[in-house]
Amino acid sequence: MCGIIGYIGNKKAPPILIESLKKLEYRGYDSSGIGVISSRDNRLVFRKTKGKISDLCELMKSQPLPEATCGISHTRWATHGEPNRINSHPHLDGSGKFLVVHNGIIENYETLKESLIKKGHKFLSQTDTEVIPHLIQEYYRGDFIDAVKKAIARLKGAFALGIISSNHPDILIAARIGSPLIIGLGKGENFIASDVPAILEHTRKVIYLKDEQLAVLRREKVEVYGFNGKIIKPEINKVSFKVDSVEKQGFPHFMLKEIHEQPAVIQRMLNAHLRKESISFPDIGLSDDELKRVKNIIIVACGTAYHAGMVGKYLIELFSKVPVTVDLSSEFRYRSPIIPAGTVILPISQSGETADTLAAVREAKVRGAKIISICNVVGSSLARESQGVLYTHAGPEIGVASTKAYTAQLCMLYLLALKLASLHKALPAREIKNIAKNLKGIPAVLSRILKDKHLISRVAKRNSHYGCFLFLGRNLNYPSALEGALKLKEISYIPAEGYAAGEMKHGPIALIDEYRAVVCLVNKSDIYEKMISNIQEIRSRKGRVIAIATNSDLNIKKHAADVIYVPETGQLLSPLTVALPLQLIAYYIAVKRGCDVDQPRNLAKSVTVE
Ligand code: AGP
Repeated sequence: MCGIIGYIGNKKAPPILIESLKKLEYRGYDSSGIGVISSRDNRLVFRKTKGKISDLCELMKSQPLPEATCGISHTRWATHGEPNRINSHPHLDGSGKFLVVHNGIIENYETLKESLIKKGHKFLSQTDTEVIPHLIQEYYRGDFIDAVKKAIARLKGAFALGIISSNHPDILIAARIGSPLIIGLGKGENFIASDVPAILEHTRKVIYLKDEQLAVLRREKVEVYGFNGKIIKPEINKVSFKVDSVEKQGFPHFMLKEIHEQPAVIQRMLNAHLRKESISFPDIGLSDDELKRVKNIIIVACGTAYHAGMVGKYLIELFSKVPVTVDLSSEFRYRSPIIPAGTVILPISQSGETADTLAAVREAKVRGAKIISICNVVGSSLARESQGVLYTHAGPEIGVASTKAYTAQLCMLYLLALKLASLHKALPAREIKNIAKNLKGIPAVLSRILKDKHLISRVAKRNSHYGCFLFLGRNLNYPSALEGALKLKEISYIPAEGYAAGEMKHGPIALIDEYRAVVCLVNKSDIYEKMISNIQEIRSRKGRVIAIATNSDLNIKKHAADVIYVPETGQLLSPLTVALPLQLIAYYIAVKRGCDVDQPRNLAKSVTVE
């Protein structure tokens, strides 16, 4: 996934293009570039470099751009071609008249490139993107918009594009299929961006460009067309969230800030959906009668969202007796899934732009299934392709490692499971009421855990030298163990594996020795004794045990080298409480190891390519 910015107006373009691009760096950060139309002579001038946007700024200091009021910029997560200067965006055509930035994958680029080379085009990079400016050059006969339309008609795959031309200094063109692109509407200026936070300080009026739409931005107006050439009257949205949600607000990292936002996020969700004992989902897209007739649910998701979905399975089946299967989106989409009548597909995605989850949804829709998604980004592709959306409204999550989005997804799944339990009359009303009451106590519990973060930091640093971690949990906390392992590995690069504790003896126990640390989720529950047995098996092989346990448990101190206590909330709500220590263990170990916590190597915030 990459980040795109475009600007056309009357202010100096380079500072706007760079400052806005910095707010998209979480989308990809292995190389970056900027291109402008010189106000003096309309020449296209660009700078690009391997590395972060800070490296691009250094380059611009030594090689300043000319005065310009129109331009594009790009931060890259490499797909085709290694991260280096030549492969970074923007890309130029052979005539030097067209400059393009791109997010996505052009699946048929090789055939296009071969045919263009046969016509004499010369390519500099290994990227798929470079075929786009050359195609525009090929079709250009004086009409810029027409040439772009013809060029994108040849493309297969996913793309969000920003395009400028030295022949048309008063136009910035944007187009999209499958990758997000937003148009920001200003006074005498207009913007394009891959995500809203990037342009919030300039405008709150945005158009979420839809698939197969092309926008022509001038200083005074924006026109939107379908790829079929028909002009469209787009919906203009007012963005509600505040600018500070995309600033660190004094925290050293976005990830730590977002970990601390979790009590407030959960509180907001409970206030929005849980009034007295009734649970409401205004945008669910299905009536209570339709929800009563739901026969089974298939959850599709990736990464952290998949782990939330695994917890969701336990909850929905336990509370409502509705059968649930959970599938990795990347597996679901290729296994010719059986989707019986009465099935609801429940995709879970923070960004709403994950290519595999979008593809899984499209696969399910072809088979006639209803789609209710759990999503954090309003107007995202997933939201638009669903019949109903359960928005988590966790605010922008900038840290690549998902934290507040995860607990928000969990909270939404608790609420959905309770709603279905009530409609399917699967639980007595007093039990639903009791669970709802305990759920309301979670924000305070999370705040209490955060107050002890210095204790968690101490345990994390004491164990940060271990070269390999295992995370073990059972039942509702088996997914928590998977999530804890993912958090650690993706920001500290330490090999870490999550496992169902009962599976230890079926192989993983061979790993245990004095060089392994094992995080055990051993909160008070009906499987507590089983977890203690697992811990004893580990200790008898000299494994280092770090336990996440319930406050009242003094017994655990006999078994574990380190204990992190969380308040008693009962087994049912424990995935919400153990999530924070797991996030903080990963965070403090990664910081201790000097890793780039917010922008870990090789990763991007949302994987909008396959
Ligand atoms: C989580 O920390 C990772 N960054 C990653 O696994 C992420 O959860 C996954 O890519 C799914 O993203 P989505 O929720 O935006 O679909």
